[in-house]
Amino acid sequence: MAVRAAAVACWTACVFLVASLTALAQRSHTPSLPFATPAGFPEPRVPSDNPVTADKVEVGRRLFYDTRLSGNQTESCSSCHEQELAFTDGRAQSVGSTGQVHPRSAPSLVNVAYNSTLTWANPALLTLEAQMQVPLFGTSPVELGINDHNKSAVLKRIKRDRWYRRHFPRAFESKGRAISWKNIVRSIASFQRSIVSAKSRYDRYLRGKAELTDAQSRGMDLFMGEEAQCHHCHGTFLFSDQATYEGAPRVPVLFHNNGLYNIDGTGAYPENNEGLAAITGRKRDTGKFKAPSLRNVALTAPYMHDGSIPTLRAVVEHYSRGGRLIEDGPLAGDGRDSPYLDPLIAPLDLSERQKKDLVAFLKSLTDKSVTTNPRFSDPFKHRRHKGSSPDRT
Ligand code: HEC
Ligand code: HEC
Repeated sequence: MAVRAAAVACWTACVFLVASLTALAQRSHTPSLPFATPAGFPEPRVPSDNPVTADKVEVGRRLFYDTRLSGNQTESCSSCHEQELAFTDGRAQSVGSTGQVHPRSAPSLVNVAYNSTLTWANPALLTLEAQMQVPLFGTSPVELGINDHNKSAVLKRIKRDRWYRRHFPRAFESKGRAISWKNIVRSIASFQRSIVSAKSRYDRYLRGKAELTDAQSRGMDLFMGEEAQCHHCHGTFLFSDQATYEGAPRVPVLFHNNGLYNIDGTGAYPENNEGLAAITGRKRDTGKFKAPSLRNVALTAPYMHDGSIPTLRAVVEHYSRGGRLIEDGPLAGDGRDSPYLDPLIAPLDLSERQKKDLVAFLKSLTDKSVTTNPRFSDPFKHRRHKGSSPDRT
């Protein structure tokens, strides 16, 4: 604990120094992205059999927005991960292509290359390639709804397209059979790795290029300090304790119960959303979820794994109380008294001004450029009137 506290104490200085040095040191090696990583950001960890190239990113971007990549052609990845919302969908819970409601909220994909585990509470999903099996082929719930019956028909749709026929062989340096499920997954993963953002006001402040307002500056001190303790779980350049990168000494796999539920005083969470316990089968892992990155958090409401907190102000109230009280109904219980509550969550009793300051600081983490960058945008949009968009009905 003492070691951890000391390690976190030098949060800003150390992490950014280490990150910059790592990035500098590695720039002399083969870069893992076909473009420079932002100052202060390390090189992401990329599987050796799928190096990121500009051609793959281009193919992946198109597939990410292509509704032909769902069983019934109604959804694409972008249906639940919209650029304008930092690649979330604005819903508490996502809705799949067949109308099935997902138990969880869609997380942001900005800087997703740096996440050490993927999705809200799965210690085993470590690469974007592995994670993608879920939205493509998953059945509980159905997302894109590709199954044994329609799998070859879906692939045929992609194979028939002239643009893909031209670009896949280039991206994968092979003449025949370049269009395969494996390469579809590899190119979408490469596109996701290209979605990097480090131009928020906070980043510009760190580089000496912008000032924080007085409220943001007080909010930052609270966030990084020992009174509010946010940085213990939302530390690193990613604002999540689950950050990894090339050359990182270890891959952190940490999950926490932050006191959202305590059904009937037993510590239980709602069905289908038990958190890490659903995978490990251990009661003490109940309600443990990943502390998500807080970059662009002002754009990603509603909050938490099930979208059950509507605004940043309400999130701050939640932490100020040290857990959520649900007074009646089937979910009644006081999260503050949960037997599984993380010891770092305790009543903070923040003043009105402190609450406003924290919200102001969280808003300084927004990078608007990521929501408008044409490199990440829908390639079908400007083609639509030329008549070459996929059939979206
Ligand atoms: C129906 C809506 C929906 C669709 C379609 C969808 N996703 Fe997601 N995505 C989600 C939800 C919900 C989660 C959280 C799942 C969980 O925690 O169990 C998620 C999680 C993720 C994550 C993990 C992010 C993180 O930070 O942990 C990645 C990566 C991702 N999706 C990529 C994709 C890709 C690529 C596609 C297309 C092949 C896609 N998604 C299609 C809703 C969707
Ligand atoms: C013990 C670790 C821990 C501490 C300390 C902590 N958080 Fe969190 N935070 C989490 C976890 C875990 C989640 C996701 C919980 C869930 O969905 O069930 C989360 C979620 C959030 C979210 C929602 C993000 C999203 O995209 O849905 C915000 C905002 C947030 N925390 C801000 C803060 C602030 C501000 C503080 C300090 C007052 C703080 N956190 C302290 C672990 C922590």
